[in-house]
Amino acid sequence: MELKETQRGIWSSKIGFILAAAGSAVGLGNIWRFPTVAGRSGGAAFVVLYLFCVVIVGLPVMIAELSIGRHTRKNPVGAFEKLAPHSGWKYLGVLGIVTGIAILSFYAVIAGWIIGYFFKAVGGEFQRISTAAESEMIFTGFARNPFYQMLLLGIFILLTSLVIWRGVKGGIEKWSKILMPILIVILISLVIRSVTLPGSSKGLAFYLKPDFSKMNFKILLEALGQALFSLSLGMGTMITYGSYIQKRDNLSTSALYVCIFDTAIAILAGFMIFPALFAMGMKPDIGPSLIFQVIPAMLARMPGGYFFGIGVFLLIAIAALTSTISLLEVPVAYVVDEKGWSRSKAVTVMGSIAFIFGIFSALSNGALEFLTKLPAINTSFLNVMDTAFSKFSLAIGSLLESLFLGWIWGTAKAIEEIEGEGVIFKYKKVWIPFIKVITPLLILIIFGDLLRRTFF
Ligand code: PFF
Repeated sequence: MELKETQRGIWSSKIGFILAAAGSAVGLGNIWRFPTVAGRSGGAAFVVLYLFCVVIVGLPVMIAELSIGRHTRKNPVGAFEKLAPHSGWKYLGVLGIVTGIAILSFYAVIAGWIIGYFFKAVGGEFQRISTAAESEMIFTGFARNPFYQMLLLGIFILLTSLVIWRGVKGGIEKWSKILMPILIVILISLVIRSVTLPGSSKGLAFYLKPDFSKMNFKILLEALGQALFSLSLGMGTMITYGSYIQKRDNLSTSALYVCIFDTAIAILAGFMIFPALFAMGMKPDIGPSLIFQVIPAMLARMPGGYFFGIGVFLLIAIAALTSTISLLEVPVAYVVDEKGWSRSKAVTVMGSIAFIFGIFSALSNGALEFLTKLPAINTSFLNVMDTAFSKFSLAIGSLLESLFLGWIWGTAKAIEEIEGEGVIFKYKKVWIPFIKVITPLLILIIFGDLLRRTFF
C-alpha cells in the first residue's frame, strides 16, 4: 500500500535524525556485546580489526542503506521492490525483517538483565560484594530463575511495544539528548575507577597492546559481525530510518558522525571493563555474563558506588530501549506499509513473536539445562541466536546490500540521491570503489575463509 510522505512522518531536523540513528546504534552492542566479544577474541588484536571493519564495511554500508531509504521512502522490502521490481531482491528485505525479530528476541533478554540489575542496585545488593566469586554467584542465581527471566523479558518487549505503538519516539529522542551525555559521564567515572584499581595494568595491556600473531580470519569475522551489530547495519534499520530524512540533509556526514560516536562509546566500555576485570582476577572469555560480573564488583569498590550503580543500569536500559525500538520498527513498518496492517496489530503480533522466541533465550542461561548446553554443540540457545543473526545474517545482508547498490541500482543514482538538494558528497570518489568492490570483497573473503575452515 502506498502511503503519502506526510503520513509516514519525517525527522524535523538533521540533529533529530542523528539522535535517532545514534539511539539505534548505541546500546547493548557497545556496552555488553563489544566487551564480551573482545574478551573472547584476544583483546587488542580484536579491537584493531574492529576499527578496520567499521571503516571498510560499516561506514560505506551505512551511507548505502541511508541513501536507499531516503530515495524510496520505504521499509526494506518495499525499498528493494521499488528499485528492482519483480526481482528476487525483495527477499533481502525479508531477511532483514526476520533478522530484526530474531535479534530483538535475545537482545530483550539481555536488556531484561539490565533491568534486573537496576533493581539489585537499588536494593544495595552490590555493596556487599567483596570477591569476584560472589559477583559470579549473584549472576548465576539470577539467571537460573525461569519466572523472573521471563518476566524481565516480557517487561522489556512491552516497553518497546508501547513506545512504538503510541508513537512517542520523538519524545524519547529528545530525552536521549540529555540522558546520553549523563551516561557518558557515568561511564567515564567507571573507567577512572577501573584503571585506578591495583593490578589494572594487565587489563590495559590486554585491551591495547595487540598481539599480531593472534590476528586471524576467525577474529576478523567476529569483528565484522560486531561492527555491523553495533552500527545497526545489514538488516535495513538504516533504510527504514533513512526513509524519514529530509532531502536537504547531508546523509554522508550524518553517517560519519554516527559511526564515530558509536565507536567511541564501545571503546569507552572496553576501558571500563578490562582493567577492572584483570584487577579482580577474572577471566576475559566468560561470555554474555561478563559485564554483569565485572560492573557490580567494581561498584562495591567505588565511593558513591550505590548511586553510580543505579545510574549506570538505568541509563544502559534507556540506551537499550532506543535500540530495541529500531529493531521492532523494521518489521512493524513492513506490515503497516506493505500489508496495510494497523500499527497496533503490527506491534502486537511482532512483539509477541519476539517474546515467544525470546523465552528460549531467556531460559538458556542456567534455567533449563537442555537450552543452556544444547546437545552436540554444547553452547546456549542465546549464543546460537546471537551467532546466527548478529554474525552471519547481518554480514550476508551487508554483502548483498553493497552488491545491490554498486551493481544493480548503481552508484550514479545513489550519488544523485545523496547530493539531492545542493549537498556535496565530498568522499564520493572514495566511496564508489568501496561499495562496489572493496566492501563486498572483504566480506566474501571472510566467508570464503570460514568455508575453508569448516569443510577442509
Ligand atoms: N546497534 C544496536 C546496539 O549496538 O545495541 C543493536 C541493533 C539495533 C542491531 C538495530 C541491529 C539493528 F538493526
